[in-house]
Amino acid sequence: KKSLVPRTRKEIFETLIKGLQRLEYRGYDSAGVAIDGNNNEDKERFIKLVKKRGKVKALEEELYKQDDLDSKADFETHFGIAHTRWATHGVPSAINSHPQRSDKRNEFVVIHNGIITNYKDLRKFLESKGYEFESETDTETIPKLIKYMYDNRESEDTSFSALVERVIQQLEGAFALVFKSIHYPGEAVATRRGSPLLIGVRSKYKLSTEQIPVLYRTCNIENVKNICNSRMKRLDSSTCLHAVGDKAVEFFFASDASAIIEHTNRVIFLEDDDIAAVTDGKLSIHRLERSASDDPSRAIQTLQMELQQIMKGNFSAFMQKEIFEQPESVVNTMRGRVNFESSTVLLGGLKDHLKEIRRCRRLIIIGCGTSYHAAVATRQVLEELTELPVMVELASDFLDRNTPVFRDDVCFFISQSGETADTLMALRYCKERRALTVGITNTVGSSISRETDCGVHINAGPEIGVASTKAYTSQFVSLVMFGLMMSEDRISLQKRRQEIISGLKSLPEMIKEVLSLDEKIHDLALELYKQRSLLVMGRGYNYATCLEGALKIKEITYMHSEGILAGELKHGPLALIDKQMPVIMVIMKDPCFTKCQNALQQVTARQGRPIILCSKEDTESSKFAYKTIELPHTVDCLQGVLSVIPLQLLSFHLAVLRGYDVDFPRNLAKSVTVE
Ligand code: G6P
Repeated sequence: KKSLVPRTRKEIFETLIKGLQRLEYRGYDSAGVAIDGNNNEDKERFIKLVKKRGKVKALEEELYKQDDLDSKADFETHFGIAHTRWATHGVPSAINSHPQRSDKRNEFVVIHNGIITNYKDLRKFLESKGYEFESETDTETIPKLIKYMYDNRESEDTSFSALVERVIQQLEGAFALVFKSIHYPGEAVATRRGSPLLIGVRSKYKLSTEQIPVLYRTCNIENVKNICNSRMKRLDSSTCLHAVGDKAVEFFFASDASAIIEHTNRVIFLEDDDIAAVTDGKLSIHRLERSASDDPSRAIQTLQMELQQIMKGNFSAFMQKEIFEQPESVVNTMRGRVNFESSTVLLGGLKDHLKEIRRCRRLIIIGCGTSYHAAVATRQVLEELTELPVMVELASDFLDRNTPVFRDDVCFFISQSGETADTLMALRYCKERRALTVGITNTVGSSISRETDCGVHINAGPEIGVASTKAYTSQFVSLVMFGLMMSEDRISLQKRRQEIISGLKSLPEMIKEVLSLDEKIHDLALELYKQRSLLVMGRGYNYATCLEGALKIKEITYMHSEGILAGELKHGPLALIDKQMPVIMVIMKDPCFTKCQNALQQVTARQGRPIILCSKEDTESSKFAYKTIELPHTVDCLQGVLSVIPLQLLSFHLAVLRGYDVDFPRNLAKSVTVE
């Protein structure tokens, strides 16, 4: 057989480093890699560990400095691991970055996403057994624990996955883990609970099966083979344990498909507590216990994502590219769903649950950051179109309050990544209380999209910039579409629905018009970029714009910025207004227009010099403005899609002028998979 492997050392390094670079957009502060030191049977085996604070580039340079990449050593099967870290426990440093190790010989090395909440107890236990810790991380308990299990194993034949199984029984919290060990050369074991993990499968040949059966009871391979053989007949598959895997197959473990998409679009998403092992080039998946609801196999799925979709093109930053993609991304969100001829909306992922949703007692919309703002932005129109009470909740606060949730509630989970831990925990909380759960995500196969009862994929395309832009406008449009679908047979709402649907139709053209203001906004940024603070004020449909605009400014420019509800101005924020304080006011021709004029008067009466985002037709507001940015006018409940864009652009220009890395703001991560 002609095989894809062996790989040279250099290729293995390059694959790992490229994979990390594809994940750079998630935000991180250090990176590391572990790879076999040699493959020479005569010499003592060792694992080479290289870790570096800072960018992946720095790690790459270090690797090339240290390693003889041109050595002729080929590896029949070879397995390396690499990781970028976003600090939770312990400062960003080489020692705290991953892989973490069991001991100075690197007998076991581990990479970890998530948080181990009982790490203090584990550490105390391991210290009492004489283990010396070198880092401040929660993760370091894991390689030490597996070494402890190994040193105390009952038989020489104990498999690597059996050890991992024992380890995860002791862990509390969230994790995606990949293990490597000098005692099991060429073997990989990975597992997850709460944090995402997938396996890419690359083969030149058609695989003998598309379903990998899940094996129960572990873990000695002989035992597994026996179970396997007996299950084989039932599954009617030609192979089982060896279902995927011979020398012509390569496996990639990753937390995110973008790390591996250039090698393969064929992936298996692991479930919580699955243990996946590649032994002798063959993959098996097993679990500790079987529960009635378990799926007996894991399917190999084909992803549609393409590499060029995640490349920067002619833009200087992903965020800029994504802002300018919005005329297309909102079309992709609506494609095949809004019928402008018949004025109907069909969200395929919800249609089977529509009756149940219509009968519910209330809607609860839950998210974090920008995704939460999309809920704030559409709350009013959803209340109007569904005639239901709508609660919008920040996932963390929702959980902190132990919010009462009932079986006749419908809970929406908004998340670009579909992996945000706070939102995922809130989802599980609502599921336990038997509410119907709906996911609105941008990531097919993400935890939230898989764990919800039904949902909508917003189809905005991969979003790389840490500061979310096009996902916000697509979430916004998705929620409005949901409202339209719910109100289809309400006679009294037909006129209003018609107006909104026409608004949706002209949205892409209007977004283009707003984007053409880019230069003007750049000039405004030139005036503002040395300021320390920036207030953004508005109310009604545009309050969410203020919150979201201020968040963008905070995230990437590191200026202080606050979204202020104009109705609250006189209850406190007015004290901040003077000649110096820059204030942006969002004033649109909608039912709040007159009230916004009052706020404008209150600001100018204190010598404030407002920069006003207003409608083109508005001649009144501009009289009092220091500067105006004039936007095309659309139906009130969609105006927020347009009014947020100048603030996205402004934050981008401010960050560039202040000399910051727009796509990788300090201290932030794209997918926050820890609570
Ligand atoms: C992080 C990101 C934010 C994002 C939030 C929610 O904090 O930095 O930009 O809005 O997570 O992410 P999600 O993927 O759930 O929408």
